[in-house]
Amino acid sequence: MVSRSEPQAPSRPTASRDGILIAENAGWHPGSWRDLPAAQQPVWPDEQARKKVEAQLAALPPLVFAGEVRALTAALAEVSAGRAFLLQAGDCAESFTEFSADSIRDKLKVILQMAVILTYAAGVPVVKVGRIAGQFAKPRSSPTERIGDQELEAYRGHMVNDDAFNPEARRPDPSRLITAYHQSAATLNLLRAFTKGGFADLAQVHAWNQEFVASLSEGRRYERIAAEIDAALRFMAACGIDLAAEVVLHQVDFWTSHEALILHYEEALTRWDSLTGMWVDCSGHLLWIGERTRQADGAHAEFLSGVINPVAFKIGPEATPDEVVALCERLDPNRVPGRLTLITRLGARRVEERLPMLIRAVREAGHPVVWACDPMHGNTFVSEGGRKTRRFDDIVEELRGFFAVHRREGTWPGGVHIELTGDDVTECLGGTEEIAEGDLHQRYTTTCDPRLNARQSLDLAFRISDLLRPSGAGHAP
Ligand code: PEP
Ligand code: CO
Repeated sequence: MVSRSEPQAPSRPTASRDGILIAENAGWHPGSWRDLPAAQQPVWPDEQARKKVEAQLAALPPLVFAGEVRALTAALAEVSAGRAFLLQAGDCAESFTEFSADSIRDKLKVILQMAVILTYAAGVPVVKVGRIAGQFAKPRSSPTERIGDQELEAYRGHMVNDDAFNPEARRPDPSRLITAYHQSAATLNLLRAFTKGGFADLAQVHAWNQEFVASLSEGRRYERIAAEIDAALRFMAACGIDLAAEVVLHQVDFWTSHEALILHYEEALTRWDSLTGMWVDCSGHLLWIGERTRQADGAHAEFLSGVINPVAFKIGPEATPDEVVALCERLDPNRVPGRLTLITRLGARRVEERLPMLIRAVREAGHPVVWACDPMHGNTFVSEGGRKTRRFDDIVEELRGFFAVHRREGTWPGGVHIELTGDDVTECLGGTEEIAEGDLHQRYTTTCDPRLNARQSLDLAFRISDLLRPSGAGHAP
């Protein structure tokens, strides 16, 4: 079981035996990041209040269990070997105010629908990971925000401050860390109920997909895939498989993930797993380092180097092969399959130029990583009306480039990382509903980056399925 008590030998993953990381005392402990420069941390105005919150969090139960973290590592090892595909998706930033059972349900629903389409197209299991139950903190390009002649501290996610533009709202408040914990616990509880309690039933999810295809005026393009999935289900039934009785057709594994940005929060939720003798960050299953905090000698890399969770980092267009390899070495010196996922977000126009050299460098260094594509963050721009947005076509274009490069390099395009919501928002341009710049104001509710709405997300899943299938545009001849 997990506990907070300090063991005799603080650990760092150093070796793998039967897929289990073995501990070694290398000076790491959950607070060792504090000795290093930590980018993107809020300046908490009241240090005593922050310390009190840390102690409170440290006494609360873990949100995830060490055995789950090991199971996700094993699932991601399958992805790294080309035998599974990763779908990681959810909000840019979860919100304290837009929090309801319906929105959790609708987000899960669209991810499950995408997963069925991708499973069929890829012909391998899809590992489903939400940006959810902890995705409350945002790195910012600028520490302040100016509107007119007022300059305030930037909004850093509801775990830190509020998005309203006034000095009081923007003041970092550590009690928000506790609220984030409780909202994560409630979210995770509902996700566990939905995914094990019948909501994820394959026939049901497929029926939702059929409804989507039927509702499209240009649905013919996707009808073939939907009809093939339908035929596959009927074939299974005809073979005598009792679709109603098969547990695997009614339940799914659904994992949580977030950017491990606010290190005081992550440290407080890190627990000792006496079964493996290792530290686990129990705030979520998978944790990633963002583009702005991926310094190999920085605090975020130090922190994640010592926990056994599967970890990921984002790679922007300016990242060099040396930087990427140095961070791989820092986070996964023992080259444990499933430990490390690299999420490239290079932009539609730069993916073909930048990705090949990164793939080659990582391959040469012998790291068995999962390669995933985030086609969102390299394609953001500000519309004429002043709203951050992304074009559906740019998103598809980056994915096309990602698949094409991996096919050429002989590596497995292991997954996708998408910002989406189940709500009917108008934040990204294009898609089957052809959302235009003039429509963005209608339902623009994100507190941070623009998300695909449910229909755009399903549209995207069908586009990705074209890229995954042997006849797809991204496949080598
Ligand atoms: C994000 O995933 O919301 C994000 C900020 O990404 P990146 O670190 O890639 O910019
Ligand atoms: Co984002």
